[in-house]
Amino acid sequence: MTMQFNEETFRGDYTYFNSPAAIRRFPFPFDQDAYMYSVNIEQHPGGPEGSPFEFAFDVDEHYVAEMQDRAITLAGDPMRCQSLPHMELAGWDLLEAIMVAKARDYPDLFSLTIDGDTWHWINRPMGIDDTFTFLDPATLPYPPLEYITRQAQGDFALLHERDGNLWLDAGMVTSQADWSLDFDVGMNFFEWHAPVPKAGKMGVFDKALKFLLAMNQGQSYRRLNWTMTVNPRLDTSPENYHKWGPEKRTVTPENVGQKQFVRVELQTFWRLPRSNALAFPIRCYLANLEDICTYPKWGRRLHRVLRDIDPDLADYKGFAVNQEIIVNYLAQFDDGAPTSPGI
Ligand code: HEM
Repeated sequence: MTMQFNEETFRGDYTYFNSPAAIRRFPFPFDQDAYMYSVNIEQHPGGPEGSPFEFAFDVDEHYVAEMQDRAITLAGDPMRCQSLPHMELAGWDLLEAIMVAKARDYPDLFSLTIDGDTWHWINRPMGIDDTFTFLDPATLPYPPLEYITRQAQGDFALLHERDGNLWLDAGMVTSQADWSLDFDVGMNFFEWHAPVPKAGKMGVFDKALKFLLAMNQGQSYRRLNWTMTVNPRLDTSPENYHKWGPEKRTVTPENVGQKQFVRVELQTFWRLPRSNALAFPIRCYLANLEDICTYPKWGRRLHRVLRDIDPDLADYKGFAVNQEIIVNYLAQFDDGAPTSPGI
């Protein structure tokens, strides 16, 4: 296998780390010195070689450790994976999309052989070698959505389209920025987005829903979202807020560079072939301020974005409590020079 996988943890002793190559490919989300919500959707996949945008479902050095972390979360709370009965076909659609893409894009890590309805899947990094009958759940150890998302980085929502809206009727959610699948399951696009400040009034959600409903089979798009997380924790769920919420109070001027992480979500949208459902993978990338500031122009820009951000967004994203410490730390990387648009 060409890729090296980190031995690391996303809880407890938090040994997560980024290699220099992982920092270089980090999807820094700011193309200007200011930030406000927008419908920032573009075509996916496609992007520079080696970037997280190159392939349909990015696999990186954190793959194996992320899958171990997901298994721990699921063992403690099986409700992190749910699928309403009418979504099983969408689960098979997603399984197919991920297997086909991974075998094509990472042939040394994954392989898929299809012989009629008999599928042979090999996942080398996780030591999995399974033969099953496509569309027959009795031949897999888990239902199709759970089976494949235990082997794919990022969270996954499956949306059912009806009545001119999208309904969150299935998902695997163990690395979320403070929202709950168990709470949101069965809600529509406007209902699950209700806690987000400003964006509704700005028309962002009306426009975004219109765009998504117009997607055809075979089409796929992406957008970036971001937030801030103390410690490299994937499971920042409301269910476990008592575990990670208090950690926000452990940030000091001395440790902020190591403890404060920028959490970027690469969100992609896929119209699925048989079910006509929409798949919404949410892939999380974490880099602490020290990592980010190894690129002086990222440090400078992040300083300006976080210093000037709308207070409602700092509150919603949960870092208002540490904003002053973060901004003071980042100020040392801002020489006041003008920047040009682009990353
Ligand atoms: C936040 C789900 C598509 C914009 C959220 C939240 C969820 C979510 C669960 C957290 C809400 C909370 O606080 O409880 C989804 C799903 C989508 C989708 C399942 C797939 C259809 C989009 C699109 C946009 C968008 C297309 C385009 C503009 C946002 C924004 C936030 C948000 C701006 C606030 C994020 C932040 O500040 O960290 N979304 N979303 N979402 N969503 Fe979506």
